[in-house]
Amino acid sequence: MSGLNQHFGTDASPSSQDTQEITAFLEKNASKRWSANSAPLRITDSQWFKSKHREVGAAIWQHAAIKSPGNCGVCHSDAGKGDFDGDRVHIPK
Ligand code: HEC
Repeated sequence: MSGLNQHFGTDASPSSQDTQEITAFLEKNASKRWSANSAPLRITDSQWFKSKHREVGAAIWQHAAIKSPGNCGVCHSDAGKGDFDGDRVHIPK
């Protein structure tokens, strides 16, 4: 929760009351699978993400329209609606 004023280049700080509530929630509900030192910083660095995307080749990630695996919406056209269904993936040609 600390350092959110420098969150990948933007200030994502919540109000101080929100910070207290969110921190309490996270401490109570945090996954036991990762400790602070071993958790990947980005979802795209996680084994889960890599295994879901093993069929996406290195050349595709470099594609001019994609640039970064974090640009979910380029391939998952309905990402904005929370729809990542594998049947509706469109990789730019
Ligand atoms: C280069 C295009 C591309 C980008 C960018 C991309 N994905 Fe995917 N994604 C795919 C492909 C291809 C699959 C495999 C589709 C399949 O299961 O047939 C996939 C699968 C998935 C799945 C599993 C879907 C299922 O039905 O099992 C999820 C969830 C997912 N992606 C989330 C994300 C998220 C979140 C991001 C951004 C952080 C992202 N993807 C970025 C191409 C992409």
